[in-house]
Amino acid sequence: MTSYKELGLVNTREMFKKAVAGGYAIPAFNFNTLEQMQAIVQAAVETKSPVIMQVSKGARNYANGTILRYMAQGAVEYAKELGCENPQIVLHLDHGDTFELCKDCIDNGFSSVMIDGSSLPYEENIALTKKVVEYAHQFDVTVEAELGVLAGVEDEVASEVSHYTKPEEVVDFSTRSGCDSLAISIGTSHGAYKFTPEQCTRDPKTGKLVPPPLAFDILHEIEKRLPGFPIVLHGSSSVPQDEVDTINAHGGKLPDAVGIPEEQLREASKSAVCKINIDSDSRLAMTAAIRKHFDEKPGDFDPRQYLKPARENMKKMYIHKIVEVLGSNDKL
Ligand code: G3H
Ligand code: 13P
Ligand code: ZN
Repeated sequence: MTSYKELGLVNTREMFKKAVAGGYAIPAFNFNTLEQMQAIVQAAVETKSPVIMQVSKGARNYANGTILRYMAQGAVEYAKELGCENPQIVLHLDHGDTFELCKDCIDNGFSSVMIDGSSLPYEENIALTKKVVEYAHQFDVTVEAELGVLAGVEDEVASEVSHYTKPEEVVDFSTRSGCDSLAISIGTSHGAYKFTPEQCTRDPKTGKLVPPPLAFDILHEIEKRLPGFPIVLHGSSSVPQDEVDTINAHGGKLPDAVGIPEEQLREASKSAVCKINIDSDSRLAMTAAIRKHFDEKPGDFDPRQYLKPARENMKKMYIHKIVEVLGSNDKL
């Protein structure tokens, strides 16, 4: 058993309390690679922001769970080396789908886990979440649950359509499961194609898709029923059009990729939404920089030559999210 406390990591409890009270949201960035980890830590330290570094089941398969855990431990030490005396870094399991996976992470240094029972029938979701909560809380690990289904595709959870969270279920669900935070479905979804062109309108000037608004009425109803309870938004990448354009201008093919407009995330951050998940925007920032580099410097073949601008571009994006969208800067 390795406790996250030995690694210098923290759980989400205090972080979320402060974020809800302060009207900002904590960034939850997925990471799979060294460059993403470095960029996340540099961005968090430079902006004095708490940060959640999250690992999906796919990331564990790609990079190895043990390596990722040591990378998170390294992230704490790296943040200190960069001058941050008291880094607030959470190592979180994203979309855990079984008790065994959550237990494995809890036993191996994670400070927070998500048990995603959103595709299960309601009572089964409660029972599975409760089982994870009972185990996690013995070790002061916090637990995120999900109620309602997001459209889109993740490695292990896929749904054609979204089913918004039903506000009338949230009190019963959170009380009976004992979860520490709740991911809800209000129209966000995973990936770089969050809406079909049919769901959007088109800006007549740019020809770009304009997505439909999130269901803020549902969010506000949930806040009313669960005052002060930490709410999580998954699928919150904005799919920056300049990155999409760079990718497409350098041999890529991402037609009609569309995300959540940043003004809506800004508004959500001021509410009980205290954790905002961003993965696709990091993928786009990395890919755009690498495609551009290869196009402009076809003779380069040392990975450091193209991973360095990729890391810089991701860092720029992370800082932008922290300062301009979520408002978690200057909180350390
Ligand atoms: O929720 C999905 C995250 O973007 C993780 O994606 O399962 O492909 O690692 P992944
Ligand atoms: P995006 O695909 O919008 O980045 O969402 C990531 C996410 O929700 C990870 O759990
Ligand atoms: Zn997610």
